[in-house]
Order: sequence, then C-alpha cells, then structure tokens
Amino acid sequence: MRQVHICEVGPRDGLQNAHHLMPTEAKKRWITALAAAGLEEIEVGSFVPPKLIPAMADTAEIVSHALSIPGLRVVALAPNVKGFERALAAGAHKVTFPVSASRKHSEANVRMTPEQMVAQVRTCVGMRGGGGPIIEAGISTAFGCTLQGEVPEDEVVRLAVQLAEAGVDCVALADTVGYANPAQIRRLFRRVRAEIGDKLEAAHLHNTRGLGLANALAAFEEGVRHFDSSMGGLGGCPFAPGASGNIVTEDLVFMFEAMGVATGIDLDRLMEARRTLVEGLPQEPVYGHLPAAGLPKGFRAAA
Ligand code: COA
Ligand code: ZN
Repeated sequence: MRQVHICEVGPRDGLQNAHHLMPTEAKKRWITALAAAGLEEIEVGSFVPPKLIPAMADTAEIVSHALSIPGLRVVALAPNVKGFERALAAGAHKVTFPVSASRKHSEANVRMTPEQMVAQVRTCVGMRGGGGPIIEAGISTAFGCTLQGEVPEDEVVRLAVQLAEAGVDCVALADTVGYANPAQIRRLFRRVRAEIGDKLEAAHLHNTRGLGLANALAAFEEGVRHFDSSMGGLGGCPFAPGASGNIVTEDLVFMFEAMGVATGIDLDRLMEARRTLVEGLPQEPVYGHLPAAGLPKGFRAAA
C-alpha cells in the first residue's frame, strides 16, 4: 500500500528547461523505465506552442506511448483552452494548468493575468464530458517569485478558492523558484486546506536553495500525501528567471522509504530508470545525493 504518491515530472518540468533535446524514442524508453520502477503517475509533457518550447513538440506522441503502459496515470500540462483541446485529443488521464499567484510571473509565463487564467480553467472544466480527464490547477510561485518578490499569502488563498469554485478536481501549491521554507510550507498548506479542504492535494517543490526535502517533510507532516519530483533533479520554468531543478525523485523516495513510509517505488529499478535518462540526455548534468552515495548498508525499504 502506497502511503505517499509521487508524480514524476521530469519528462515535463525537467526537459522543458534542459539545455539539450531528448529524442522522442529516448523519452519513451525513460517513461517506460520510470513506470517499471513503480511510478504510478508521470507528467509526460506539455501542450504548449512548439515554437515556444521545442522540447515539448512531441507531447502527443509521448502521451500516446505512455497510455500504452498498463496502470500508469498519464498527466500533461496545458496553459490554455487550446492546450486542453490537444490534451483531450491525445487522451491524457489528467491535465494540469499552471496558474501563477504572482502577477508578474503570470504575464511572463502565460501572457495572461491570474484572473484570465482562472477563466481559461473554468472553460476547460465546462468542456470536459462525463469521462473527461482529471483537472488539476498548480498554483505557481505560491511561495514567492523572482520577478515580483513577495507573493501575498492572501492572494494564494484567494486563487485556490477561485479555482475550487471553478470546479477543478485538485489544487497543488508550487514553489516554482525555490523560495519556500518549512514554516511557510506548513502555514500556507494549512491556510489553503482550511478553505478548500481535500481539494488541496499536491506539493510541487524545487530545490533551488537546498530546502526541497525539508519542505517536502514539512508538507508531509502537514498531511500532504501527493508530491511532484523530478529524476536527477532536472527542472525549472523557462519563464521564471533563476528557477532550477525540482526535488530529486531518487532522494525523495529514499527519504520516505527510510522513514518507513511506502512509496510503491523500487529504488534499484529507479536507478535503472536514471541510467535510461542519462543515456537519452548524456550532456545534461543530473543531481541527487542517493545516487552519488548509494544506499546505507543494511537498508530496508518500507514494507
Ligand atoms: N498549443 C499550441 N499552439 C498554441 C497553443 C497551445 N496550447 N496556444 C496558442 N497556440 C498558438 C495559437 O494558435 C497561435 O498560433 P498562430 O500564430 O499560428 O495563429 C499562437 O500560438 C499564439 O497564440 P496566443 O493565444 O496569442 O498565445 P500567446 O502567444 O499569447 O501565448 C500561451 C500564450 C499560454 C500559449 C503561452 O504563453 C504558453 O504556452 N505558456 C506556457 C509556458 C510554459 O509552458 N511554461 C512552463 C510551464 S509552467
Ligand atoms: Zn516546477
């Protein structure tokens, strides 16, 4: 039984910010290896204009491949109605929308205000039929923004309420630029949960200032059971200056398993998936403490 749910976002958050392009066939091999390691949910790409992010141009083909893997929940990012239509056509199980709490990041990332973005999400909720995909809103820059600086917590809470009212299935809080600290994580998750209850689901954290795992633990202790992370710590938003990698999947899995919290992920197979990543993107630096140091002698994973 999984006690926490980890969504691997490397094929989207990681590759959108990588210096090199991963060939389509290599992406497929990587996703297959990630699923074989026990990742039940993978954000495989984004339906954004290919001119804007060439690394995401093959997302429809990648979604189609991922859909052929039994039991895998296939997630894709969409920034607007057009992206959602492409995600529907491709058959993604879940679509995630980036909704910035920072006005400046919203303009830079999606060329819309947060209010316009909420309206896009509301339209998409209305478009999906009965069997349509799960819709998630990820509140980007919820803990601060490199363009705007401070992001008022009241804004984040207000946005979460608007998104819940718009009918999304779940909301994630994202530390897009790695500004968060554990006390802030506890406070904001608690405040948002008080308003929208269980619709608040995931923590999407970046490790830019080294607090990624501390923040993940704080979120876990605050009751969060869904985490996004990226293999090798790839990641970052190309439209948020200074953004760098997500928390490292390998280290996050190690932390939980060492604590006796089952992730459903096999660490040996996760290392095989990492080799597949490195083969597919050999020039890109990959990070992670566990892969560098290895498992402790006598290590036992959670039962
Ligand atoms: N997929 C493919 N093409 C799209 C598209 C989508 N989701 N959305 C818009 N387009 C096309 C339009 O059809 C139009 O094409 P044309 O020039 O051939 O007529 C062109 O792109 C411009 O459309 P417009 O609606 O004016 O978009 P924009 O230039 O204002 O950009 C976004 C808005 C939202 C599409 C863009 O800012 C974006 O994709 N942002 C997301 C960036 C991202 O992925 N960040 C990292 C993840 S958080
Ligand atoms: Zn991110």
